[in-house]
Amino acid sequence: MEVFEKNDKRTHYCGTLTKEDIGRRVTVLGWTQKQRDLGSLIFIDLRDRSGIIQLAFDEKTDKAVFDKAFGIRAEFVLMAKGVVRERATVNKNIPTGDIEVYVDELKILNKAQTPPFEINDNGDVKAELRMKHRYLDLRRPSMQRNIIARSKITNITRNYFNSLGFIDIETPNLIRPTPEGARDYLVPSRVHKGNFYALPQSPQIYKQLLMYSGFDRYIQIARCFRDEDLRADRQPEFTQIDMEISFTDEEEIMTINEGFLKTVFKEFMGKELETPFIRMTWREAMERFGSDKPDVRFGFELTNISDIVENSEFKVFSGAVANGGSVRAINVKGGAKFSRKEIDALTEKAKHYHAKGLAWLKKTSGEISSSYAKFLSEAENTAIMERLALEDGDLILVVADKNKVVFDTLGALRCECARKLGILDPMDFKFLWVTEFPLFEYSEEDGRYYAMHHPFTAPMTEDYSMIDTDPGKVRARAYDIVLNGTELGGGSIRINTTEMQEHMFSVLGISPEDAQEKFGFLLDAFKYGVPPHGGLAFGLDRLVTLLLGLEDIREVIAFPKAQNASEIMSKCPSFANPADLEELGIAVIVDEE
Ligand code: AMO
Ligand code: AMP
Repeated sequence: MEVFEKNDKRTHYCGTLTKEDIGRRVTVLGWTQKQRDLGSLIFIDLRDRSGIIQLAFDEKTDKAVFDKAFGIRAEFVLMAKGVVRERATVNKNIPTGDIEVYVDELKILNKAQTPPFEINDNGDVKAELRMKHRYLDLRRPSMQRNIIARSKITNITRNYFNSLGFIDIETPNLIRPTPEGARDYLVPSRVHKGNFYALPQSPQIYKQLLMYSGFDRYIQIARCFRDEDLRADRQPEFTQIDMEISFTDEEEIMTINEGFLKTVFKEFMGKELETPFIRMTWREAMERFGSDKPDVRFGFELTNISDIVENSEFKVFSGAVANGGSVRAINVKGGAKFSRKEIDALTEKAKHYHAKGLAWLKKTSGEISSSYAKFLSEAENTAIMERLALEDGDLILVVADKNKVVFDTLGALRCECARKLGILDPMDFKFLWVTEFPLFEYSEEDGRYYAMHHPFTAPMTEDYSMIDTDPGKVRARAYDIVLNGTELGGGSIRINTTEMQEHMFSVLGISPEDAQEKFGFLLDAFKYGVPPHGGLAFGLDRLVTLLLGLEDIREVIAFPKAQNASEIMSKCPSFANPADLEELGIAVIVDEE
């Protein structure tokens, strides 16, 4: 191993060299992508975060340098000095493919074992192996691109909000639980034995308090923690672009955040985004797309056929309507080509969403085949096909159930079918705002209402009078921003009076004593002059993922958690040292499996 010295500092990143540099003596640093030994010639591809440059050695190269180059293997760390020259044979696959560095000085700064997978984007490396050696996985060009892109986007974010007078304020990570809806991560206190901090699910309460304090415009790129089941778009710790404004309304918050996305698109993607985005009420989103985060890149919209089948002999359909539910259908254009096996898989998926079954009908070369047509009258069948505008090659999917099940199932199936048909272009960005969410969501299981967003969200003024009599009907001053079927962000106008906040807690079944115990500081604060305020938070990980045309947020997080919330590389979580536990006054009960 040789020593890295002061004048070994790079003059250029490998990938930034161009034909303009021909004749220039340069110093490059990086990792060996590959070494090719052709007898009297040796070529080394040297890689750094910017790309690859070829290093060349030949019979005229100093023998000591040539011999050193001979022994170099993948991932060795090198310093090379030499003159840039034109390449004899151009490699069209890399941007620097028409030049090379003819090396006269070479240092091996470190050797490397053969890595467990090749450092490139060609292979299909198992997720577990990637995570175990994340430091190697992060060397891959695609991961470097993703992480660098994320940095660019956070810079654009800071500049944008700064230019509009937002103040960047950090809020604590050891806090009292914020009721955001997920389970909290708890942190034991040594000083106060038996007491726990929670890690914030979001800075929600603190950003509101900052409005009470008069900061007027707050922004933070904030880490949030939620102990929930992971999915491709969910991590236990993730990052929000979190903002809040005083003396504001929905219009202003939407406009500022549309401006933000417009700026990101322009500066990061070089693309113009059309604003304002479409706005759709929650009710319309559910009725048309069966989802509060509709993917509007394609059709297959839900159609209510309850009125056609409410008196049908087929009890599966008429019974659902009689029980207060509905029968709805989608027309999957081009879906008739799905095989029975594929339709069975869709039926399984439907059951996932608690549907009791999935009825289907398809038309292929004029022939109708169907799971349900034989149970319906001709008039009923014709009416359904007409309403769904059935054409040759189409597939109709029908679900009869309680509305929630119908929406959830068809909402998921329309996306699944679009995916299967390959009609989704990840680079076709369709934004929309979903507004007028219900304030509360009723849980049959618990027999009580929950706040759909969080309990600080204000009701719509015109609905407030129904809050005691018909809470399920009250709409919230809440809005979500949706991109291609993903909830990218959400926010609301907040409650700013004691009366309304106490009212909200009472509908949520939080007793005045409980409210005082948990949020006394917030209720106290209301006594001293709270401005009208509201805000929004974007999921930064989701934003970066979608902008890069990716699906899994782990691709844009340097050190993410695996599906089971563990970090494979460092083996975390892990058992705590018994002495530490004792100091914390904690005894651990482990379930015997
Ligand atoms: P909300 O809970 O909707 O609102 O969160 C805002 C945005 O954060 C992202 N997000 C996540 N990203 C990755 N992994 C997760 N587990 C995860 N959970 C949420 C989503 C989501 O839209 N305090 C409010 C905001 C406000 O009212 O101003 C809040 O946290 O993109
Ligand atoms: P069955 O009467 O169980 O033979 O069902 C006839 C057809 O209706 C089958 O294709 C079932 O998958 C479908 N089906 C059953 N329950 C439902 C439901 N709740 N919604 C839609 N289709 C259903």
